[in-house]
Amino acid sequence: MNLLEGKRLVITGVITKDSIAFHAAEQALTHGAEVVLTSFGRVRRMTERAAARLPSEVEVLELDVNNAADLDALTESLTSKWGGVDGALHAIAFAPEDALGGRFMTAPVESASAAFATSAFSLKSLAASLLPLMGAGSSIVGLDFDATIAWPIYDWMGVAKAALESVSRYLARDLGPSGIRVNLVSAGPLGTVAARGIPGFEQLSALWEQQAPLKWDVSDPGPVASTICFLLSDMSRAISGEIIHVDGGFHAVGAPTAPACA
Ligand SMILES: NC(=O)c1ccc[n+]([C@@H]2O[C@H](COP(=O)([O-])OP(=O)(O)OC[C@H]3O[C@@H](n4cnc5c(N)ncnc54)[C@H](O)[C@@H]3O)[C@@H](O)[C@H]2O)c1
Repeated sequence: MNLLEGKRLVITGVITKDSIAFHAAEQALTHGAEVVLTSFGRVRRMTERAAARLPSEVEVLELDVNNAADLDALTESLTSKWGGVDGALHAIAFAPEDALGGRFMTAPVESASAAFATSAFSLKSLAASLLPLMGAGSSIVGLDFDATIAWPIYDWMGVAKAALESVSRYLARDLGPSGIRVNLVSAGPLGTVAARGIPGFEQLSALWEQQAPLKWDVSDPGPVASTICFLLSDMSRAISGEIIHVDGGFHAVGAPTAPACA
């Protein structure tokens, strides 16, 4: 089924073929979408290398999401390329090293603010830059790690994700009247560059092996990518301000389940 036929999608956050956004782009292309990737600065060559492994050729546009000139240039480039945009994936997060890995009590405000700016405020920035190009039926999707509770090691990134959850609700409020939906996918742990950069990531992913009722494969972003495609498609046309957990059911249970009696 060509779920995304005719959709013009902006996909941020591809750095390697392990990136969640890479799998979202791959599935979106397979579902008939047109895709543009964004990347920035030094990592752009890595994005271009990953892009070459997608099923069709895609353009890579410059976007440091904290850079106002890049955001303006993105609007201009997409106006001349497509004249409109039907959907966007925000797959961007960053926290300085001293804001993660068990350093919650010592992280300076500058590091917490940097995590907030790149990982949460940026959803608003991306939405604002695409707004002039989006019409009714457009969809914005972001990527979350359940921020309703405190985790080991996640520290100020967890606080930034709580802010992202709130930003997405305010965007749903403000963009809904224009027919634009905003939703998040709350993913279980996946072995990407960003995740492996968190000291103690294995500690988190090991929890999933014990507790996810459906089991969880940290090396397979496919299920998360499929849900992103669903949210970018017209199938989700009445969903906004929502957070869909794609975590093997982990969020629904409080402790590992004992094996069922035979
Ligand atoms: N991997 C996981 O376990 C997991 C779980 C839940 C949610 N997420 C979220 O998924 C999203 C994508 O991360 P990923 O795990 O695929 O890792 P990744 O390292 O593949 O992607 C992170 C991306 O953020 C981009 N980025 C960082 N700073 C940026 C900036 N200033 N401007 C533009 N882009 C910037 C990087 O270039 C990179 O492409 C993030 O929001 C992450 O928090 C990841």
